[in-house]
Amino acid sequence: MSFKVPRGTQDILPGQTEKWQKVEEIIRHLCHVYRYQEIRTPIFESTELFQRGVGDTTDIVQKEMYTFEDRGGRSITLRPEGTASVVRSYVEHKMFGQPDQPVKLSYMGPMFRYERQQAGRYRQFVQFGVEAIGSKDPAIDAEVIALAMNVYAAAGLKDIKLVINSLGDHEVRTKHREALVKHFEPHIHEFCPDCQSRLKKNPLRILDCKMDREHPLMATAPALTDYLNEGSASYFDQVKNYLDILGISYEVDPNLVRGLDYYNHTTFEIMSTAEGLGAITTLCGGGRYNGLVEEIGGPESPGIGFAMSIERLLLALEAEGKELNTENQLDVFIVTMDADSKRKAVELASSFRAKGISTEIDYSNRKMKAQMKAADRQGAKWVIVLGEQELAENVASVKNMESGNQEKIPFHDLVNYLQTH
Ligand code: HAM
Repeated sequence: MSFKVPRGTQDILPGQTEKWQKVEEIIRHLCHVYRYQEIRTPIFESTELFQRGVGDTTDIVQKEMYTFEDRGGRSITLRPEGTASVVRSYVEHKMFGQPDQPVKLSYMGPMFRYERQQAGRYRQFVQFGVEAIGSKDPAIDAEVIALAMNVYAAAGLKDIKLVINSLGDHEVRTKHREALVKHFEPHIHEFCPDCQSRLKKNPLRILDCKMDREHPLMATAPALTDYLNEGSASYFDQVKNYLDILGISYEVDPNLVRGLDYYNHTTFEIMSTAEGLGAITTLCGGGRYNGLVEEIGGPESPGIGFAMSIERLLLALEAEGKELNTENQLDVFIVTMDADSKRKAVELASSFRAKGISTEIDYSNRKMKAQMKAADRQGAKWVIVLGEQELAENVASVKNMESGNQEKIPFHDLVNYLQTH
């Protein structure tokens, strides 16, 4: 019997994990600089939270959730995204009562969606996301977008495009919705069964359909931007103005409809334009959700946020042929000859590591030549050879692997030597 990782999941192995750690470091640094404090919520929540939060008519809730009954008979769901959980926590811990609003939160962790597996689409993936809850200042919309863009810039991505749209407020959406129903209804039988059921429940989602993308009625569908009322249009203008101030270029796409129900006003996606990335080019998605906090049982607290998967960021880097600057240098490999030198090596390794010098020794009793080869394979900066003679003289022979220079250094001087050369 052979076991494999479950479909849609992956093992992240040494070699890859260094890249993950580098991205995580970039993210932690930027969250610190932008003041988004980390929040950690459970991996599972009550199913109803997502039905309400993400929305009953979305693909996520209808088709993609990992839902099960626990032993107490409760319906539980592995979180498909982070916003609903963060908003639940904001309400549960009465963060709306804190003096400084918006409350700016960030999170990073696995999310679960039962989707068809393809490059860039997994069933378990790691999202980094932020939520700024408790303000409807258009400047915070721009700040959130800037943070996302800066993550990609800091990772070294160049072929990046920001697309924004406004979904307007409730009044705008109601009018637009009526127009959409009128537009699609006479021909709805030409659309897929999903779109047919979306027509009455959530016609905006038809615009996001992957099956009917080429239908001529898609291109002529009424655009939300044409329905924006004065307040919504002015809000959108201010967001764009702040983006201009920040020097962030963007495209406005009136058909940018996000797959989650909670959005209004600003929505955005960040895409990779790198060739060879494959069909999935959206790296990050987000938007404003005034109304979600109330939906989850809190007082009126408008919010905005985004989420991006680390997997897609790394794929985009690969497509651009960019390497992350990862640091996993082995400083010292200690080559041993016999039991006595092994004992000394264990002692030296411990004193090096205590000073932050990364150290490896042989645990397979290999011959000297094989140990030298291992040191080379592992990219050691120094090789220390301990033999009978060295032990007798209380010195180690230290070889710089790059220059080939070799010196004999007294044991008590080794740490100092390694730190200063
Ligand atoms: P979303 O568009 O569903 O939005 O997902 C955001 C990002 O998560 C995507 O752009 C992509 O990077 C990543 N992602 C989603 N599904 C997968 C998958 N199957 N495999 C790999 N990566 C994936 C949200 O989740 C919202 N909660 C974003 C948000 C936060 N809006 C406001 N605040």
